[in-house]
Amino acid sequence: MSGFQWWHTAVIYQIYPRSFMDGNGDGVGDLAGIISRLDYLQDLGIDAIWISPIYPSPMADFGYDVSDYTDIDPLFGDLATFDRLLEAIHRRGMRLILDWVPNHTSDEHPWFIESRASRENPRRDWYIWKDAKPDGSPPNNWRSFFGGLAWEWDATTEQYYLHLFDRKQPDLNWRNPEVKASMFETLRFWMERGVDGFRMDVVSFIIKDEQFRDNPVEEIVDDDVSDSNPIHREQRHIYDIDRPEVHDVMREIRAVIDAYPERVSIGEIWTEPLARWAEFFGQNGDELHLPFHFGLLFLPWQAQPIRVQIEALEAVLPPGAWPSNVLGSHDASRLATRFGPQAVRTAAMLLLTLRGTPVVYMGEEIGMVDGVIPADKIQDPQGINSGAELSRDPCRTPFQWSEVPYAGFSTVEPWLPVAEGYEQRNVAAQQVDPHSVLNLYKRLLAYRKSTPALQQGAYHTVTDTPDTCYAYLREYDGQRRLIVLSFADAEQTLSLDAIADRGKVAVSSGLDREGEDLDLSRLRLGAHEGLIIEI
Ligand code: GLC
Repeated sequence: MSGFQWWHTAVIYQIYPRSFMDGNGDGVGDLAGIISRLDYLQDLGIDAIWISPIYPSPMADFGYDVSDYTDIDPLFGDLATFDRLLEAIHRRGMRLILDWVPNHTSDEHPWFIESRASRENPRRDWYIWKDAKPDGSPPNNWRSFFGGLAWEWDATTEQYYLHLFDRKQPDLNWRNPEVKASMFETLRFWMERGVDGFRMDVVSFIIKDEQFRDNPVEEIVDDDVSDSNPIHREQRHIYDIDRPEVHDVMREIRAVIDAYPERVSIGEIWTEPLARWAEFFGQNGDELHLPFHFGLLFLPWQAQPIRVQIEALEAVLPPGAWPSNVLGSHDASRLATRFGPQAVRTAAMLLLTLRGTPVVYMGEEIGMVDGVIPADKIQDPQGINSGAELSRDPCRTPFQWSEVPYAGFSTVEPWLPVAEGYEQRNVAAQQVDPHSVLNLYKRLLAYRKSTPALQQGAYHTVTDTPDTCYAYLREYDGQRRLIVLSFADAEQTLSLDAIADRGKVAVSSGLDREGEDLDLSRLRLGAHEGLIIEI
């Protein structure tokens, strides 16, 4: 394992804490709830837990609006409960990654309360305040990613402040050294407590154009922008986000992290195209350990686009850089809904056999689908401002533990309704079904853990396959594994004897072919079947 850190070989599991497990019966998940389910996570076989924000927050964006970076919101628990959680995670040999939200605070953070108090306040310059144009309009054409303008007029001090997200999320001014120093202290606070690393929220957004120029207005065509949010398509986002100067700050952040041994820095980096995204590893590997790779999230569930994306990713990685693939999150439609139910098993196999550190969003391991949220129950500010089709509530519904009311998540009505079909699609039911999606995840996680070729091996595309099929090799120190994934609705027969004459099934997506000896000149592959083959 030389040169490999724990996070190279780990599988990360994302918990959206409001929706994982309610420990105190108020309809919202919490830290006590997570503690009560650690045995489940250990048994599942994941290595590290990333928890979306748990800090004090008015919850305008459900924790991504932080009003104190060094405490726990009472809704989730307190610092003593947090310490218990961390200790219980470490005792099980797992790691804990916290979400860190550097781009903006809550407007109820004491820093912003001071900043907005007067133009002379010493913290005025901690946020981004600008005069109106002579006609009273905002300083430039930047838009909030949640819809509407990115500028909010403050009548008391007669200036606009910038918010790239909700108006209750004012952007910090990272060009101010005091802001930097204070934010770095918040990282140290949690590392001193023993936290193993951070997932850094929209960290590439933290530096804005020094001259605050207008973004060029032009309609962005499909190929350039991969998701469906119209805000991402109506302007070229070259002055508001992803500024080249941000890399200087990224290196400073990394130095703070590196002062503590074995900590990981992960970044939510949407930057496109991939060549610019890859810059976030740093020219000397001195920025992020793991910028998340989101390139698979919005592709159609088809072999060729996925293959092309992975090849492009592999080609663009600087020497020594390590990918981290994401197929689901609290911001995107569930993969069973987005790609279709037929994709659930092959997606699991893809995610857990590609080169890199996989991130499993809670609930994907039981094949959860998007919930249906009535219009009057929408909670997500993006959904409220930009329309129900952009609401992220459907992928944030309560975790489905069992068939009892509220899916065993809570004893009272949860903050979001439980998704339909939970009576069948839940942990308890899938634990006793040997062929369930949950047991597939367990098998894949266990197999990956015992197979260096999957944890550390090189990646090579197998080129000689039909268009409806994606096959690749993972190789490490003489150990070779062939992964074959079908995207077809019908059975097919493949000739893969250019790779090897014979092979043996290690894992099949239906958990029904293990140990089968294969003649690779005539490999039978079921509809939407995936195989890991020992060769
Ligand atoms: C990130 C988070 C998202 C949040 C936004 C603003 O994209 O993943 O949930 O709303 O940042 O903090």
